[in-house]
Amino acid sequence: MGALFCSGIISTGSYVPDNIVTNKDLENIVETTDEWIVTRTGIRERRIAHANMATSDMAVIAAKRAMKESGLAPEEIDLILVATVTPDNNVPSTACIVQYSIGAVNAAAFDINAACSGFIYGIITAKQFVATGTYENILVIGAECLSRFTDWKDRNTCVLFGDGAGAVVISRVDSEVGILSQYMGADGSGGELLKVEAGGSRKPASLETVEQGLHYFYMDGSEVFKFAVRIMASAAMEAVKLAGLTRECVDYLVPHQANIRIIEGARKRLNLTKDKVYVNLDRYGNMSAASIPVALDGAVREGLIKRGHNIVLVGFGGGLTWASALIKWAY
Ligand code: ACO
Repeated sequence: MGALFCSGIISTGSYVPDNIVTNKDLENIVETTDEWIVTRTGIRERRIAHANMATSDMAVIAAKRAMKESGLAPEEIDLILVATVTPDNNVPSTACIVQYSIGAVNAAAFDINAACSGFIYGIITAKQFVATGTYENILVIGAECLSRFTDWKDRNTCVLFGDGAGAVVISRVDSEVGILSQYMGADGSGGELLKVEAGGSRKPASLETVEQGLHYFYMDGSEVFKFAVRIMASAAMEAVKLAGLTRECVDYLVPHQANIRIIEGARKRLNLTKDKVYVNLDRYGNMSAASIPVALDGAVREGLIKRGHNIVLVGFGGGLTWASALIKWAY
């Protein structure tokens, strides 16, 4: 069945905590240097949530900002999707906590776990509901409080992550704009490369798991890196092809913000100049599912994205997962 309605992003919003942790600060915690972190990743500093803040608190602020921009009332939201791997709780979902906090009393709500690809998985899911006419207005949020799942003694991971949230409202748009293509994939055989080992039904939290730090993120950085370089470039190109366009048609790239070297691979594959790629990982690090929506909001606010522009979103993450989309900007 073809789409009945075209869907697109009609507003964006984001939030990052005001607490800045620089590479120099990390030099005092683990054996690392500002020089190592900058040259290997491109990250200079990241935001870390204050102790009284959880993922949903950041999600709510980002959501309210996107809602305000859209002009929609909370009651007009039909569905809330929160992409996160760091939910407040296993139950209830973070999406339900957000639904209650913003007063979206008519909205269904659920979380999406696709790690750093989660936000794109979310907008693609939202598109299906709008396209079929099931829902009109959907809030898609990417929010993470990675610092709570970070082993601050592990230099392999603690230098990479940051906290934050970004949100968009997806609604019906004119037929000449909107989400033109989508591409998603997964390879569960790589699940061991990036995981939180304990705290689930396989290995419930116990004194031993806590002592061994198994409730923190573990990552095989170099294997994830090899996968990421390959998939970011090919997934970005796939979104362009599926939209029936060529790379010359791409106006702007908003990639997942994990590592500047990975972003460079995607940029070169699309043959874009550096000014056509949004980068904020120097300021925020890798915020997993929040990275792309925070970047998107930054690009909109800085006037880099305009109506009619062809924007490519691309991400990869734990699972392993990947996703991309080409959006002809609607406003
Ligand atoms: N400071 C100094 N040295 C370090 C640090 C650090 N912070 N971290 C690791 N090292 C050391 C290691 O111990 C290792 O030393 P050894 O060779 O003596 O054992 C060496 O540096 C590692 O070197 P490389 O593996 O060559 O480092 P690389 O260039 O691959 O960079 C990095 C590592 C930045 C982690 C990179 O592999 C990467 O970006 N991987 C992808 C990570 C990612 O994108 N994850 C996304 C998903 S996150 C999510 O889904 C929540």
